[in-house]
Amino acid sequence: MAVNLKGKSFLTLMDFSTQEIRYMLDLAHDLKAKKRAGIYNYVLKGKNIVLLFEKSSTRTRCAFEVAALDEGAHVTFLDSGSSQVGKKESIEDTAKVLGRFYDGIEYRGYEQSVVESLAKHSGVPVWNGLTDIDHPTQILADMMTMEEHISKPLNKCKVVFCGDIRNNMAYAWMYGCAKMGVHFVAYGPDVLIPDPEVIAKTSEIAKQTGAIIEVSSNPECLVGADVLYTDVWASMGEEAQTPDKVKMLAQFKVTMDMVEKTGNKDVLFMHCLPAFHDFETKTAKEWKEKGIDIREVTDEVFRSRHSVVFDEAENRMHTIKAVIVATIG
Ligand code: CP
Ligand code: NVA
Repeated sequence: MAVNLKGKSFLTLMDFSTQEIRYMLDLAHDLKAKKRAGIYNYVLKGKNIVLLFEKSSTRTRCAFEVAALDEGAHVTFLDSGSSQVGKKESIEDTAKVLGRFYDGIEYRGYEQSVVESLAKHSGVPVWNGLTDIDHPTQILADMMTMEEHISKPLNKCKVVFCGDIRNNMAYAWMYGCAKMGVHFVAYGPDVLIPDPEVIAKTSEIAKQTGAIIEVSSNPECLVGADVLYTDVWASMGEEAQTPDKVKMLAQFKVTMDMVEKTGNKDVLFMHCLPAFHDFETKTAKEWKEKGIDIREVTDEVFRSRHSVVFDEAENRMHTIKAVIVATIG
């Protein structure tokens, strides 16, 4: 059956079939090739989109802006500091107003219920640019990057996510891997138990797609990995937990030993970014002065031939363009 995503919101990969995710990935590869060749079809000419950010961003914001402008759409950026959102106006009322002006709404913030509410009340597609429990546009970019670097299909690949196995990236990976038939291992400490509901839901889908969704604290799970993935140990909004997280996760820092343990000389290192891999950031420096090393990956791995982190960053734009084009183009 032909895929038609027009008018649909992009809140989580759980809302999409394997075929629909395949369609968005294929579209992203196609749009990337077209951009490289200087071909623009301006399929969003005359469209207006709004980007609503309650948390900071470099990649996601820039990806939405460039993607939309490449295709001829106009973009408005709003943050919580300079708009009425949340302080003087409810999400429901905000959605009803923005839906009158715009053809699509991007939201980055805290609760998943906010993107759901925006979608329910705005009447236009809403795109999830990250919440506390999901980051679906990132997974599209990561899978696109895997397809560029690994000759096997996604459903023959093994991804090991190291570190904070209860964060938005870990869950987004579980959803994406379940849908696309990927072998996913959440490798972290026993004390961090991922949401049993997420494990149950993704394990159910895995039965149909051939995916494997596992949680492990045993380094043996690294063997045979095609991708070692990590993310910051304290996500946006939980910076105060940094010292506890560092204690809990230090042994899951991605090192060259870990890369070697996979037994795969071509294993990829991936990270959604921003990453702490050296002490060249204010945050990493300040914690270091207090005797705390917050790096989730060594600089050696981050800069090694295994690392494809900047390809992933570029692919945020191509995949986000695919999502916008598929839903409002
Ligand atoms: N990976 C990612 O979402 O980056 P930003 O926080 O810079 O948007
Ligand atoms: N887990 C990170 C992802 C950043 C893209 C955070 O939420 O801060």
